[in-house]
Amino acid sequence: ERGLRVADRGFMNTAVIESTITYIDGDNGILRYRGYPIEQLAESSSFLEVAYLLIYGALPSTRQFDLFEHEVMTHSIAHVDTEGFFHSFRYDAHPMAILTSAFAALGSYYAEANPSLQGQALFTKSDPASLANMDKQIYRLIGKATTLAAMAYRVRQGRDFVVPPVGMSYTESFLYQLDHLGEGDYRPNPVLSKALDVLFLLHADHELNASATTVLQTGSSLVDPYSAISTGCASLYGPLHGGANEAVIRMLISIGKPENVPAFLEAVKRREKVLSGFGHRVYKTSDPRSFIVRRTADEVFKVTGKDELLETAMKLHDMALKDDYFVSRKLAPNVDFWSGLIYRAMGFPLDFFPVLFAVPRVVGWLAHWRQMMLQPGGVKIWRPRQIYLGAGKREYVPIDKRK
Ligand code: SDX
Repeated sequence: ERGLRVADRGFMNTAVIESTITYIDGDNGILRYRGYPIEQLAESSSFLEVAYLLIYGALPSTRQFDLFEHEVMTHSIAHVDTEGFFHSFRYDAHPMAILTSAFAALGSYYAEANPSLQGQALFTKSDPASLANMDKQIYRLIGKATTLAAMAYRVRQGRDFVVPPVGMSYTESFLYQLDHLGEGDYRPNPVLSKALDVLFLLHADHELNASATTVLQTGSSLVDPYSAISTGCASLYGPLHGGANEAVIRMLISIGKPENVPAFLEAVKRREKVLSGFGHRVYKTSDPRSFIVRRTADEVFKVTGKDELLETAMKLHDMALKDDYFVSRKLAPNVDFWSGLIYRAMGFPLDFFPVLFAVPRVVGWLAHWRQMMLQPGGVKIWRPRQIYLGAGKREYVPIDKRK
């Protein structure tokens, strides 16, 4: 095929879209959502306000935010039939496997999500009805992300599902449904609620990471957004991506005491182990989110007490940042290195950590999906080519004639 060239492995230097949503400068450790520096948003905004910003492109007015929050919270209730769906999993099913399936199942509840209808009901900026339909699907997915995640959490513990009281914030209602400390009567803790809201905000979007690309690849066939989001959730589940926050804690537990860190790093250099929570395709310096997560961890530890793995994490962090093997490969902490310590200190089970990444990332996936649906000239299906290196033409040989 003339003119075709294979992109660098893993799309190393390949841009597949133009976007106005998130900006990353990997050399200088810069991250901005719609132009706003992540540090300012973490300091002054909230997850749900940032959700509006990422999806619609501007910070909302009070009225716009109140309407958005009302719609999201109204659509946070799951159909009662989904309870049977959650009870169909084995007692020890990984909550990300449950959540991925739940997003795909969600589309089957909504006639207008039917892909064939979707194809005919292409979203067009000039058609208010189709835009309203798109917004409703966006509200449903954001609102139900916490409910489905909480159901995946509670079904594993053999506990009934709960519906949070009206009037709670998005993050607070999630913590209420989880009641992850299992005391049966959820008591809000402002420090922990704020910490989770900041973590949600930091995880909301990150331009074209593997899971966002997956959502766009799937969504480009005009399938419904529930199915597209479920494929993003599947991609995020992997230990090279959102599963890294769980992998970091498993790594720290396997290292144990700080004095075992040098031997672990030597094993990493021999490629016998992976240093989870380090390295990034785009950041060639520390991930700017990791500094905010680290500071948030100190706030949380004031309430929960320090995690005994913190010393080991700090020793690992400090030694790796001074070790030429990692420095020469520009490996630095990413968003996952410290976040797991916070989730652990807050009392979440280990395999629930990637779910705490997936819930806020639904917003980023939807922002990119909406941008693609409304792009000028309409949606073009993503269908890359290949360079064929296989056998040339050859004749079929019946099995009794083969050697
Ligand atoms: C997230 O893309 C995003 O934006 C993702 C994310 C988001 O918000 O969506 O930021 C969230 O997924 C963060 C990353 C979480 N994953 C981990 O922490 C897993 C550990 N990290 C590595 O698997 C790796 O760094 C990746 C997957 C994150 C990036 O891989 P790349 O870009 O393909 O880099 P690479 O494998 O080509 O590595 C370059 C070199 C190699 O050495 P050489 O073979 O050239 O000698 O660095 C080495 C790698 O072996 N290397 C590591 C390493 N990461 C890379 N060596 C030891 N430990 C590591 N963690």
